[in-house]
Amino acid sequence: MADEIFSTVLGELEENGLLRRTVSFEACDGRTLTRNGKQYLLFCSNDYLGLSHERRVKDAVIEAVAQYGFGSGGSRLIAGTRTPHERLESQLKDFLRTEAALLFSSGYCANSGIIPAIAGKGDAILADRLNHASLVDGCLLSRAEFLRYPHRDMAALEKLLKKTSSAKSRWIISDGLFSMDGDLAPLDDICGLAQKYGARVYLDDAHAFGVLGDGGRGTPAMFGVEGKIDLIVGTLGKAAGGMGAFAAGSKIAVDFLLNRARSFIFSTAMPPAVAAGNLKAVEILGECGAERADFLLTVNSFHTELKRLNFALKAEGYIIPLVLGNASDALNAARAFWDEGIYLQAVRPPAVPEGTARLRLTLTARQTDEDRGVMLGAIRRIIPPAL
Ligand SMILES: Cc1ncc(COP(=O)(O)O)c(C=O)c1O
Repeated sequence: MADEIFSTVLGELEENGLLRRTVSFEACDGRTLTRNGKQYLLFCSNDYLGLSHERRVKDAVIEAVAQYGFGSGGSRLIAGTRTPHERLESQLKDFLRTEAALLFSSGYCANSGIIPAIAGKGDAILADRLNHASLVDGCLLSRAEFLRYPHRDMAALEKLLKKTSSAKSRWIISDGLFSMDGDLAPLDDICGLAQKYGARVYLDDAHAFGVLGDGGRGTPAMFGVEGKIDLIVGTLGKAAGGMGAFAAGSKIAVDFLLNRARSFIFSTAMPPAVAAGNLKAVEILGECGAERADFLLTVNSFHTELKRLNFALKAEGYIIPLVLGNASDALNAARAFWDEGIYLQAVRPPAVPEGTARLRLTLTARQTDEDRGVMLGAIRRIIPPAL
């Protein structure tokens, strides 16, 4: 019975070019992927600085497996906390210059667990319309009044702030570097409005942490608003090259989350070896200023090249959407790149709004000048110049 319903839905998805499938590779070296013996240049990874394949990180993981075993054996509050978890939390708070930090198993767990802990009935959440799905789900779970403003529209945000003046408390929630559009939230304006109307700011800096801003401290450092954000969530599965996430803020905020965020309390702690790998990765993020600067220069050059090809570029970093509109067109374009030995994926609704299906191209520090040249050649051949 249930399968009948499921297969109807799957059929509809397939018809509309929206069916999803995993694609498996037998090898990956951070720069290329291999599938059925064929090698592809990797152009859709969030491993922006290539740390997932960094030798020092891999060694740290292997050592920690030998010392602590595989799993953590329980939630953080029962028997799952080991030295690497606490060291990583301490390192993250130092890195971001906050008072404290708390680990979560993933960014999805962090957002879907933290938001319902900090906002509830009688509160209001004002959120950018293009926020990541994990933020949206956290907002829906919270039972707070959930209002969305058009992407980066500060006049609309201000209107919502005026409209919600009677809420018990108000949170403005935004991505820092938007995951699918690659542009930045106007964080200085957001913080200014929050201050003016007595609202609080929740920032998901998943894609900027470790790469953007002075010292890789993300969009708060970039916009000069460090210390003005109530809670910062970051993930360790992107520039840190591992997995997991954290919330950073005041000591009181972190103690509150430890007691109230259900996805922290009721979930197995990340394996100690993952924490140890993250620890090494964040240490490297703290020391790799020159590599980070080089990488950002190559990102700028790539933007220049794309503009030369007449692309109206709205991306401000290493996430570059090539918007095609229709889901099937995006799928066909992805296949054309695969044929040219380049791997990237079509991103379709509901990950992006209807009519904005796209290829989400990402740049990483592992790619070479030659790789980027191959990519530009393929874009010229595959993507209509009107974009
Ligand atoms: C902005 C943002 N927040 C949260 C997440 C979820 O993080 P994780 O993959 O660690 O669950 C993502 C994932 O892509 C993201 O883009």
